[in-house]
Amino acid sequence: MRFTAVLPILAAFAASAHAASGWANSCTGQKISNSILTANCINSSGLTTATSIDLNTCLVNIFGLLDCGSDLIAGLTPNAVKRHRHTSPVNFNQYQQLQPSASELEMRLTAVLPVLATLAASARAASGWASSCTGQKISGSILTANCINSSGLTTATSINLNTCLVNVFGQLGCGSEGQALKTCNDCTVSSATITCSCLKGGNSDRLRSSVDSNNCIGNRNGALTC
Ligand SMILES: *[C@@H]1O[C@H](CO)[C@@H](O)[C@H](O)[C@H]1NC(C)=O
Ligand SMILES: *[C@@H]1O[C@H](CO)[C@@H](O)[C@H](O)[C@H]1NC(C)=O
Repeated sequence: MRFTAVLPILAAFAASAHAASGWANSCTGQKISNSILTANCINSSGLTTATSIDLNTCLVNIFGLLDCGSDLIAGLTPNAVKRHRHTSPVNFNQYQQLQPSASELEMRLTAVLPVLATLAASARAASGWASSCTGQKISGSILTANCINSSGLTTATSINLNTCLVNVFGQLGCGSEGQALKTCNDCTVSSATITCSCLKGGNSDRLRSSVDSNNCIGNRNGALTC
């Protein structure tokens, strides 16, 4: 359920490249009915038109904290996000359904940020290592394998999985610099599937979960990379 709560943030991130901003300088009479924000906005002819937007397309509820997804992407720390919320000019309290403690919120947001970092890096992420490597094994956080290079020769190579994987509330996932092995242990690898026991957060419960590492680890000329 907590992992599900992360997905809208990822969706918000996906849309952030073309995020709009600054509407309130050129609109008046704004009001909210349910999820719909309505206002009278000036268009390029200098004339006012009534317009509305479903706030579900712009705002995200991050474990009870309302925010724009793009603000998170801009690199705000959890504390900065909280300040942003307190200075928000519009009262969006009706959208705030959960109120975790500040420390819990901090912990949860900290867990989410590597996921966003991952998406930022995803355009240049490596992939598909397992079809050109053999003998893979994991010791601690280190994945070792024998991978074919561009000469067609096999070289032993290894990578620290902390640089490739992330633990999101017990679910192992691809995540650049996600530091998954700081909260996961007891990892195994079968073909490209990496399985670990990961802390779910908040207590000492662990979830045994897997990730298809072909989605974030590649073989670059005989070297495992992510
Ligand atoms: C601006 O809004 C007015 C009034 O709604 C409309 O008649 C006009 O076509 C709009 N101009 C542009 C460029 O959209
Ligand atoms: C491929 O690996 C072999 C064996 O390690 C090495 O001698 C060779 O230089 C490598 N070729 C390239 C292009 O890296």
